[in-house]
Amino acid sequence: MVTKDNQHPPTNASAAPPTSDRQLPDSVVDDAASLPSTAQVVRVPPPPPGPEPRQNQVPDPDLVHPLPGYDLTYVRPTVSLPGIEVGPFTYFAGADFQDHVTNHVGYLGDRLIIGKFCQIAIGVEFVMNGANHQMNAATTFPFYAFGGWDQQPPPLDWLPFKGDTVVGNDVWIGQHATILPGVQVADGALIGANAVVGSDVEPYTIVVGNPARPLRQRLDQDLIELLLELKWWDLPIAQINRLIPVLTSPDLDMVSRELRRELATRRSTSG
Ligand SMILES: CC(C)(COP(=O)(O)OP(=O)(O)OC[C@H]1O[C@@H](n2cnc3c(N)ncnc32)[C@H](O)[C@@H]1OP(=O)(O)O)[C@@H](O)C(=O)NCCC(=O)NCCS
Repeated sequence: MVTKDNQHPPTNASAAPPTSDRQLPDSVVDDAASLPSTAQVVRVPPPPPGPEPRQNQVPDPDLVHPLPGYDLTYVRPTVSLPGIEVGPFTYFAGADFQDHVTNHVGYLGDRLIIGKFCQIAIGVEFVMNGANHQMNAATTFPFYAFGGWDQQPPPLDWLPFKGDTVVGNDVWIGQHATILPGVQVADGALIGANAVVGSDVEPYTIVVGNPARPLRQRLDQDLIELLLELKWWDLPIAQINRLIPVLTSPDLDMVSRELRRELATRRSTSG
């Protein structure tokens, strides 16, 4: 996460330590003890235990600046232009998200739709369909756009019109990435820094480069399917709070077990 000072935001002193410090099973923490005695093992002492997370806490998704003193903004309360829809808790590491949605001209009617809990780094740009000039004619010059020629915009089917840009939930977009018109980025995807994304991105897939290409899946397929079924981002905030230790644990076997149990409970109570 980058802020105006190019620093990580301060740790919230009242927050509990990262889940990984609180929840790693002994077998993982003690792995170093099984290393050969010649190996130099630097043991980092765990931080002192913090207060338990408060499950009843309801953070306010309509705060513009959820980190006081930093430029970082929750995007939804900053959106005023038509054709941009953003879910709660999605943040942008800057103050002026709409300035990073370019060539968004009303007459084309394309929308930028971004889900919940996305993390959008500084310098990210969403290029909308107004950026694409007519390419099926002798010139790409947009005479219609300028005063003095009195030309009408070409019909949509003369343009490379790609439709809405859609970003799912819990998507992390690295700094200075560019998302081209009409791209669909699925839930849990990760866009590497400086990537230029011109084609759709599959769920929980990391893409990098220009043109952005898949590097790998961030999680194994079974866990991805559990997460796509659970859709934790759509749950009431109290349930999300309860799940935070699971969602942030690097013990992915435990995470799979817990999510299976969560889904089984959901199925049994809904049916
Ligand atoms: C994509 C990313 C998360 C790294 O993922 P990773 O799985 O740890 O990838 P690795 O570092 O192991 O790199 C794997 C390969 O991808 C390449 N790669 C990694 N990130 C890349 C990027 N952004 N662009 C191009 N190539 C990249 C590496 O060079 C490496 O290539 P190689 O196999 O030819 O040596 C990271 O590089 C990145 O871009 N993070 C975004 C950071 C950011 O912008 N944060 C914003 C503040 S919140």
